[in-house]
Amino acid sequence: MKLLAIVGSSRPEGNTNYLVDEALGEAAKLGAQTEKLILSQYEVNPCLGHEDCASFDSCQQKDDAGWILDRFCEADGVILATPVYYYNVTAQMKAFIDRNYFLYKKDRRSQARAVGIIVVAEKEGIEDTLYALKQFVDWSFDVEENRRFIASGYAGKLGDAQNNLPLAEEARKLGRQIVESLKEGS
Ligand SMILES: Cc1cc2nc3c(=O)[nH]c(=O)nc-3n(C[C@H](O)[C@H](O)[C@H](O)COP(=O)(O)O)c2cc1C
Repeated sequence: MKLLAIVGSSRPEGNTNYLVDEALGEAAKLGAQTEKLILSQYEVNPCLGHEDCASFDSCQQKDDAGWILDRFCEADGVILATPVYYYNVTAQMKAFIDRNYFLYKKDRRSQARAVGIIVVAEKEGIEDTLYALKQFVDWSFDVEENRRFIASGYAGKLGDAQNNLPLAEEARKLGRQIVESLKEGS
């Protein structure tokens, strides 16, 4: 069982990564094979918007989006995690979302059967960001409502997520719920 986390934060030691690590740690304890991709460590350029994806076998931009999208499609479970930047996902996460347009144009979807969303903000914008990610999940996955899990809450400075004990527990619960959901569905 493969669980892939796609992370939109640029801070490897930051709040989002901490929460993702907690979620993946729990998932691994229950037997999942976990992988975390921090988008800022790769080259995922914005979509060029030519709308001609269907004419090509692969996206014409030769960056890291191609293999990341392949892995995204193959995973049994996916976690999308981002801090709130101006009431939305980060630029890295938005670029990743937009590059999914190639899959959409090719009628390809992630085969994941469970999805987790992790969103962290200093003080506001969580609802707007969740809305954006939920819309993306609707378009890109074929996952029933009861297999979608959310952990969201407040943390601003480095280390704040570690001190937000209910939020950290929510993230661990999300990790467990994804694996349990995948086990039920297999
Ligand atoms: C460019 C930028 C924009 C931000 N916009 C918001 C915002 O709209 N609302 C909010 O509550 N926090 C905002 N924040 C704070 C981050 O969401 C918060 O610090 C979060 O914990 C960062 O996650 P990280 O540690 O994983 O990088 C912003 C931070 C940055 C750098």
